[in-house]
Amino acid sequence: SGEVSLRPKLLSEYIGQEKAKENLSIFIQAAQRRGESLDHVLLHGPPGLGKTTLAGIIAQEMGVNLRITAGPAIEKAGDLAALLTNLGEHDILFVDEIHRLNRTVEEILYPAMEDYALDIMVGKGPTANSIRLDLPPFTLIGATTRSGQLSAPLRDRFGVTLRLELYTPEELALIVKRSATLLNVPIEEDGAFEIARRSRGTPRIANRMLRRVRDFAQVKGDGVITKELADMALSALEIDYLGLDPVDRRMLSAIIEHYSGGPVGLETLAATIGEESITLEDVYEPYLMQIGFLTRTPRGRCATQKAYQHLHIDYVGQLGMDV
Ligand code: ADE
Repeated sequence: SGEVSLRPKLLSEYIGQEKAKENLSIFIQAAQRRGESLDHVLLHGPPGLGKTTLAGIIAQEMGVNLRITAGPAIEKAGDLAALLTNLGEHDILFVDEIHRLNRTVEEILYPAMEDYALDIMVGKGPTANSIRLDLPPFTLIGATTRSGQLSAPLRDRFGVTLRLELYTPEELALIVKRSATLLNVPIEEDGAFEIARRSRGTPRIANRMLRRVRDFAQVKGDGVITKELADMALSALEIDYLGLDPVDRRMLSAIIEHYSGGPVGLETLAATIGEESITLEDVYEPYLMQIGFLTRTPRGRCATQKAYQHLHIDYVGQLGMDV
């Protein structure tokens, strides 16, 4: 068995994110014609949309090496210095969760990004000095779910910023069919679409569901993924027909039942349902807002009338007045 990689390797195999792809393709070609490294790239958007995949594709298309790390893994200035000094000409350093870099590490990054230079402090006290070490021209690709939390000086040092959007069901169906081919599992059009509709705009979720539906198809069916089998599997996993999972539903029903539909502060809401506020914000809210079930106001989160309907709860307008 073992996990088959479903990650596309080339831009031409990557489905969706048309705007980002179009722009990226031009920047890659231009850098190659000039014989330069690609300018630093910031990728932002909800988790699971393919930021790491895109970094791999950029490296492949540029014909350079990719080093992958994450903000919380770089604890000291020396950790970053080690990564940077081991890069080859035009190589790519991918830093996931770049908003979680600490201050001192971030400050090492500024001259590295701007001048391909590392400023190293030597000595202590009155004889302390800094020496400058040259780095090869490289590309930093930063990924974040929250560009708002990036400091302005860091954000300003990226020449290219690409915002990844939630995928449409049509795009997800294409991804599911491509993945099914790679996994060697037969799938019907309706089956692919059922998984796509219930994947919350997110390829990582679609591919995970595909593997679970395949399990059901093998045990409960004849191995072919049909709409009926997809529905059976996803119902068993408590994923409803819009893709909402038990956390989504608890979140919405808590807003409705404990806070009269809102507004309720994120921290309060998180404590009420026993989840982390960051998880709710990064993982759950983007899709709930996209489908119009949740709104963010300055005073907190509100459930919309659509959310009430979906949960089969009678909607009573603000202040208990009829609408
Ligand atoms: N697998 C995960 N994300 C993908 C994408 N955007 N295109 C093709 N395959 C994928």
